[in-house]
Amino acid sequence: MKALIRNILGEEFINDIFQKYFRWKEKVQYGIIYPILLKIPFAPNFYFLFSKSFGSEMKMFVGARMDYIKKQHHKTENLFLLRRNIHRLEKGLIMKNRRKIFALDYIEETVTLLKSLIASKNDNDQINWACDILNQYFEVTDAHPKRDNALKIFSTISANRNSDRSFGPFIVPENNKEDQYSFAVLAKKRKSVRFFEPNNIPERSLMDKAVELAALAPSSCNRQPFSFRIVDNPELVKKMAVLPGGTKGFSDEIVAMVAVVGQMNVSPSISDRHLMYIDGSLASMNFMLALESLGIASCPLNWPEDKNKDNKVRALLSLGDFERPILMIAYGYAAKDGKLAYSVRKPLDQLRRYN
Ligand SMILES: Cc1cc2nc3c(=O)[nH]c(=O)nc-3n(C[C@H](O)[C@H](O)[C@H](O)COP(=O)(O)O)c2cc1C
Repeated sequence: MKALIRNILGEEFINDIFQKYFRWKEKVQYGIIYPILLKIPFAPNFYFLFSKSFGSEMKMFVGARMDYIKKQHHKTENLFLLRRNIHRLEKGLIMKNRRKIFALDYIEETVTLLKSLIASKNDNDQINWACDILNQYFEVTDAHPKRDNALKIFSTISANRNSDRSFGPFIVPENNKEDQYSFAVLAKKRKSVRFFEPNNIPERSLMDKAVELAALAPSSCNRQPFSFRIVDNPELVKKMAVLPGGTKGFSDEIVAMVAVVGQMNVSPSISDRHLMYIDGSLASMNFMLALESLGIASCPLNWPEDKNKDNKVRALLSLGDFERPILMIAYGYAAKDGKLAYSVRKPLDQLRRYN
């Protein structure tokens, strides 16, 4: 039917009508509706009550919170919480005026969590790091019933620590002028590349290196609520490449892609609902610079707030209930004859302001 109407009226005529309609709609929105919404308390909540986009985000948040709290109550595996709590202990340990006792509200939870995790995976640097930090915590803190109870539990599991590497003490790395220089070179060299050498997909060992470097990005309380789903199967790439709206004109050129996937069920707090986007973006930038340092080009691709598109990726990559793509990244070896957009940056006086 749509095709018939398009044939009768003509593509250009229909596009023209749509553009006029959208411009008229925007005028009504900024001229009438939005000023009213801004004046009346809670009016935006009602206006967006049936918004699919906000609705699906809220639904995911509810499910993620439920999952998180359930795990906490059942004391089941929660590496996000372990990383967060151990990181809080680390911060307590490095304080200049360290308190004689701290972390009383979560120390028992932390060792109990560690106990359940050790049972399932004891050959793991995260577990070893947790053991080392807890050891230091118990060494320097004063007696307290909660702390002593936690120590009792810890004593039963600390022998499971399984590595020659030790994690801590905490040392500031030496300032190296050369490193700063090489970062400037790398940052300037990276550009969004949209045309790649066909049939030349970077080796997985290089991609693994880039992922490990990406994970060095800071994340809120070291939760790391993201993962990199690397798609190098040509059939799957074909299906994925057309999904981001911004690949029109070069989706056929994409030889491999990464879906940066955020994880929502890493905190029970509504104010933490953007963690996955913030932490995922920081890691993504590290990832793209890491790729560049390995000679691999990339292009970030906007991932829209669109439930249908999310579901397509969820099905293609078997994502979990509380996971969603936050960014796509095309990667590969830059085609020699491919051109780059210049993308001029804002000048310094528009970028920064002191105080
Ligand atoms: C979040 C994000 C989404 C982007 N989405 C697209 C996209 O959909 N299509 C595209 O061609 N480029 C996309 N880009 C690339 C930008 O256009 C590019 O980074 C910007 O113009 C600066 O150019 P440069 O990366 O070459 O320095 C995206 C970049 C970011 C950070």
